[in-house]
Amino acid sequence: MIVIFGSLNIDLVARVPVIPGPGRTVLAPSYETHFGGKGANQAVAAARLAGPGNVRMAGRVGHDGFGEDAIGNLAANGVETGLIVRGSEPTGCAFITVDASGENAITVASGANLAATAADLPSAIFRADTVLVLQMEVPFEQSLRAARLAKSAGAQIVWNLAPVPAAMSVTMLRDLLDVTGFLIVNEHEAIDAAARLGTPETSFEAAAALLAKAGRLTCVVTAGAQGAYAATADGRLLHVSAPTITPVDTTGAGDTFVGAFACMLGEQAPLQLALEVGCEAAALSCLRIGAQAAMPVRSAVTALTDRR
Ligand code: RIB
Repeated sequence: MIVIFGSLNIDLVARVPVIPGPGRTVLAPSYETHFGGKGANQAVAAARLAGPGNVRMAGRVGHDGFGEDAIGNLAANGVETGLIVRGSEPTGCAFITVDASGENAITVASGANLAATAADLPSAIFRADTVLVLQMEVPFEQSLRAARLAKSAGAQIVWNLAPVPAAMSVTMLRDLLDVTGFLIVNEHEAIDAAARLGTPETSFEAAAALLAKAGRLTCVVTAGAQGAYAATADGRLLHVSAPTITPVDTTGAGDTFVGAFACMLGEQAPLQLALEVGCEAAALSCLRIGAQAAMPVRSAVTALTDRR
């Protein structure tokens, strides 16, 4: 079972010619409403590959229409939703602008996500064959508590260090590295995290190697069109290329990678295959607007189907 503890958002997406800088206004012809939140995106990405009943989402939404819709969407995607709590805060909402090249800028109004608590996770859900997936859009100390609970049951921990909080201390980072088996970051997050350990690195490969060594873990760096890299605790660096695509919207591509990667870990796939499936799923997810719209089902991922 893959357990995701994290954020659920509704994404309001506007297509703009150029993402506005501070003090600027741009006009978009319209906007679209999509399901989002890093946690929910990762849950859907995993469930599209793992199939119904193999992914469970835990988190918090409001007693509002957005919250009901977000839960309903997860259920429709085969994700178990019984651990999602409804609270008095509004459901999280993300304001997203996407430019002509598919790049985005995102502001998240966290709402109920900030009140998500690991106290809502029964310890019985964690077993040796559980993969727990965490991100940084619910309170860090709650994710850490969930990770420690899961680790004591022998579960594997995948932690997507995104977004890196401005106030992340060395202690927080060391606590995170201590419980994590697979740290997943993008190039900037890798360099940012390494700098917080007191060792500024200019290349993400060196930063990933440092993080892998510091945490005795595998550090995976998602590098967009360049594919993904994995630095292992024993000093190896693997690289997998990404399929060439013309992106329509890169929102949620990293989440698709994380969900697909977690699915493969749950199936005890080798690291190389988990990276290949993650890269292909992430590339496919960029072909339509909205974080979840183009996340592939298992039969669409050639890294899996070609091996049959
Ligand atoms: O990673 C993309 C996600 O980040 C969006 O769906 C948005 O909700 C924010 O959480």
